[in-house]
Amino acid sequence: MDGIDVSAVDLRLTDGTVELTPLGHRAVGYPAALREALLTALPPNGCTAGELCRLDTEVGQAFATAAGEALTDLAGGRADLIASLGQTIYHWVDGSRCLGTLQLGQPAWIAEYTGLPVIADLRVRDVAAGGHGAPLAAMLDQLWLSGATEPVAALNIGGIANITVVGPDAPTLAFDTGPGNALLDTAARMVSDGVWQQDVDGELAAQGTVRADLLATLLADTYYVKQPPKSTGKEHFHADYLRAALEGVPHVPAVDLLATLVELTACTIAQACRGRGVGKVVASGGGVRNPVLMAALRRCLDPVPVVTSDELGLPTDAKEAYLAALLGFLTWSGIPADAAGATGAAGPRLLGSITPGKGPLHLPDPVTTAVTRLRVC
Ligand SMILES: Nc1ncnc2c1ncn2[C@@H]1O[C@H](COP(=O)(O)OP(=O)(O)OP(=O)(O)O)[C@@H](O)[C@H]1O
Ligand SMILES: [Mg+2]
Repeated sequence: MDGIDVSAVDLRLTDGTVELTPLGHRAVGYPAALREALLTALPPNGCTAGELCRLDTEVGQAFATAAGEALTDLAGGRADLIASLGQTIYHWVDGSRCLGTLQLGQPAWIAEYTGLPVIADLRVRDVAAGGHGAPLAAMLDQLWLSGATEPVAALNIGGIANITVVGPDAPTLAFDTGPGNALLDTAARMVSDGVWQQDVDGELAAQGTVRADLLATLLADTYYVKQPPKSTGKEHFHADYLRAALEGVPHVPAVDLLATLVELTACTIAQACRGRGVGKVVASGGGVRNPVLMAALRRCLDPVPVVTSDELGLPTDAKEAYLAALLGFLTWSGIPADAAGATGAAGPRLLGSITPGKGPLHLPDPVTTAVTRLRVC
């Protein structure tokens, strides 16, 4: 919810290998009022149907502008299609199942503004097939990281942190480990009365001490011991959740709160990797920019090395935007884009809904050969 990540990508399929050439990426902040309205609509607050309609429209319009500018600046004004993961506003999990998921950013605005077909609503088909619809990174990570002699975990630290474990001997598994930056950002807003949106560079956390009592309270959440596939969201890890945890312990100074939440994120990620034979972690997402979080993560995972996705050719800030492009390309090519079973779906599924561009849809003939690898080149 910090903004819109846009990328332009050239994608080709040759002999079962997807060749992905990044053409460029950028982050476009949401207009301040829209961001504030999105944050306000999050649980535990909720919002009316009228507000939801307004948010869906305004996010769609913001996506349209961002896509149109990227089309001109990054893709020379030419593209076949646009793929949009949307802005998650609610991810409905009950027990071990995901029952629904809602992403805002009405694709008609993007199609109208750019004239291009738009593939959106990529998550919900996986949910309809019994999966969690998240994390959808499994397909990219599996194609990109398979072939190693020991399991590799691709980690994305967004609001929620998620890993994909790709191994030589076991099927790919993708699940949310718990909070990434969500509680850190919530705490930053809480301790500054809404002035700070984040603890920039972990400056507060670096001055604090981990409070064992608060950490124990937070770690008692049963989400962490659930077996994957599993997913979660900001409807679980929100401001009231944090307030309830704080009420159960003596006063926690701001710097100690941030330090404890850094530790919570780092140790729950490490715990999720443990026991799965992970030999390397490839990290991406905004959390990689927080040096205090990265130091804690390296300590908790030691001796397992943590590298960033940059080192393997995909920029940490834009991996999810490149993922959206890949999912759109696969869908357009008639290829199921949910790595079979990784999120719990009954089998491989074609994802997404397609909104036509200026003219009628002309989809390419569906690809029938198996897609087995992804090469960033
Ligand atoms: N310099 C920094 N210091 C501390 N935290 C940072 C820094 N830069 C980015 N972040 C964190 O990264 C977050 C943005 O990361 P990202 O865009 O990957 O996630 P998101 O958009 O919130 O989540 P999602 O991908 O789950 O929708 C910020 O909200 C902030 O918490
Ligand atoms: Mg973001």
